[in-house]
Amino acid sequence: MFDKKTIIKGVSFMNYTYKNALLPPMERTLNLLSLMTLEEKVGQMMQISYNMVNVTEAEQWVKNKFAGSFLHALGDNADRLQELALSTRLGIPLMFGIDAIHGHALLNGATVFPSQLAMSCSFNPSLVESAGRVTAREVSADGLHWTFSPLLCIGRDTRWGRINETFGEDPYLIGLLASAIIKGYQGKNLSDPGSILACAKHYIAYGESTGAKDAYDTEVTLRKVREVFLPPFKKAVEVGCATFMTGYQSIDGTPMTANKKMLKDILKDELGFDGFVVTDWNNTGSLVDKQKVSPDISDASKKAIESGNDMIMNTNDFYGATLKLVQEGKVSETLIDDAVKRILNIKFKMGLFDAKKRRGYISTDVIASKEHQEINLELTRESIVLLENKNNTLPLNNIKKIAVIGPNADSIQAQFGDWTFFSHPDPNPEAVPNFEYYTMLRGIRELAESKNIEVTYHKGCDIMDKEDIDIEGAVKACEDADVIIAVVGDCLAMNGEFKDRATLDMPGSQQELLEQLKKLNKPLAVVLVNGKPLSIPWIAQNADAVVETFNSGTLGGKALADILFGEFNPCGKLSISFPYHSGQTPVYYNHLPGWHSPKYADLSTAEPLYSFGYGLSYTSYKYSNLTLSKTSCSSKDTITVSVDVTNIGKCDGTEIVQLYVNDVISSVMTPVKELKGFEKVQINAGETKNVSITLSVSDFSIVDADEKYVVEPGDFEIMVGPDSRDASLLKEVLTVF
Ligand code: NOJ
Repeated sequence: MFDKKTIIKGVSFMNYTYKNALLPPMERTLNLLSLMTLEEKVGQMMQISYNMVNVTEAEQWVKNKFAGSFLHALGDNADRLQELALSTRLGIPLMFGIDAIHGHALLNGATVFPSQLAMSCSFNPSLVESAGRVTAREVSADGLHWTFSPLLCIGRDTRWGRINETFGEDPYLIGLLASAIIKGYQGKNLSDPGSILACAKHYIAYGESTGAKDAYDTEVTLRKVREVFLPPFKKAVEVGCATFMTGYQSIDGTPMTANKKMLKDILKDELGFDGFVVTDWNNTGSLVDKQKVSPDISDASKKAIESGNDMIMNTNDFYGATLKLVQEGKVSETLIDDAVKRILNIKFKMGLFDAKKRRGYISTDVIASKEHQEINLELTRESIVLLENKNNTLPLNNIKKIAVIGPNADSIQAQFGDWTFFSHPDPNPEAVPNFEYYTMLRGIRELAESKNIEVTYHKGCDIMDKEDIDIEGAVKACEDADVIIAVVGDCLAMNGEFKDRATLDMPGSQQELLEQLKKLNKPLAVVLVNGKPLSIPWIAQNADAVVETFNSGTLGGKALADILFGEFNPCGKLSISFPYHSGQTPVYYNHLPGWHSPKYADLSTAEPLYSFGYGLSYTSYKYSNLTLSKTSCSSKDTITVSVDVTNIGKCDGTEIVQLYVNDVISSVMTPVKELKGFEKVQINAGETKNVSITLSVSDFSIVDADEKYVVEPGDFEIMVGPDSRDASLLKEVLTVF
């Protein structure tokens, strides 16, 4: 509230209305901006990385240079800095950012959700929104304000190290899930105590860098950016995502930090984004020493400002360089004002000036609370995908002894994946979790023992350490087991920034381990714990069952056990395609048509090993009676597509009914099919449900050669089915006039 006793040096009392909480955020912002010196303004643009400065430097950044934000400062450190910020001349609070990527997982003790890739296989926006809400509450209880999430990059070339952070390969699904998690993070109102800022990243086409090499150039045209990469970010703007982060990479030779066209012209002017843009880590400095488009930090800072970056992450010499640029008239102060206005407006909107955004306002009891774990378990179960189930190997029944084998059976580090207290950005593989967690082994063991089933375990081999191998021992451990559950996959060393892969083969000696286990002629169920799709044709062919869990978080083992023992009927579907062979990547379903053989001469098929949208259940479904509410309409109409889905198996289940569209003839080539809608429906055994999905025909627009969004008249194939494969889909034609 407005405090009459507050005296600000050199400013008359009537002037500092920014302290009046009853005024609208923008009014307070403009007032505060009018009171600020150039140093205070440029300070607001600075985001200091807590881990890159010592304590004294951190304090100086607040006291003397008025830094606006810190990242990766936690607990008492953050509190101390905040107190300091509040005691400065204008008392502008700091905004604390954190990589709460799948839960507030840099904090040992908080809920760790499945990775974005895993959760996208749930095709469940409402659960993903709840995961965002839970994360927001836990981050807020820790006194922080902002997560650098979600990641909206499109996961096409799966050699890329950050595939685990994507929502998969489909722009529509990514946009939908991103909007959901943004809503979860930001809540109904940014100023609610349990709301945090979301950050849509990395703008734009970052996942597409050449050869899947992180931060290299992206060779895409502006038309393609608009058609493929922009739609999810557009949705993020529409749901009010408060912040955007620029990519590390360049597009056609222009680094994103210096890309005025993408940042200022498209994001801010065309899409009307009114939040603020933060650079990625030292992006501004990288213009000089990595991307080499600037001779010095002064030129780099000028480019960053003029292109539309508002907050500068971890390029600390931006501060001095920018002061000089403005003082010498080389950069207009109005550009600084625009950036600071955006930052302050968000600070006011989120109630940062009020006590309810401070640590202590929300009790830390919410962190990993029972309610949060229940949501986590629900999402984890729905994220798991059953890829193979020959002869109904699963659910397990009539067994007395299980052998659990493999390096990822009891590895919470591999199960968590990237962006937890074990890994990025402060790797601590020896950390001991101070909360209850379920590795795959623990989950299987507890549920098995409650059913009087014996469990033996043997690691077999390590993934990275070639010395740590005992395949014979593993084979021996299987001796009198009725079923073998082999838990294999990849590990932290193969996922994340700086960890792109050349091959997607099963790493280490795991293949050999599996081949030896197969020789035992016992039912072999393979459970995959991995950051990304691996090329596993041998497993597909030889395992009796295959279950994909990706990085499943705290309760992965519990969720897996529920599925293995039939307490939960699997319903996840792949949000990303699996290649037969690394050389087949990228192998996404929504590719443009081509000619000559779609197949490589030395591969037996053109198809992926597992396609987008694919996933099995313990029951099966029959699709029939595909009907369109009309067979011709205008581009302004909506149509309703309905289909009967019958559960023809013996148990109840949940099916993800998918709708794809193909623009038959278009002025530029368009994908062979694109997901335009889906419904997740619960269908009891023997029951038929009529499922309808309503579409706006305007969503069939393409980006033509002049970069215009148009719905071109003509025929559109409407396809509905359980996955993206042609053979799985029923088809009708809609004519648009
Ligand atoms: C680098 C990563 O690219 C980005 O995703 C992350 O949010 C920032 N660093 C902050 O850690």
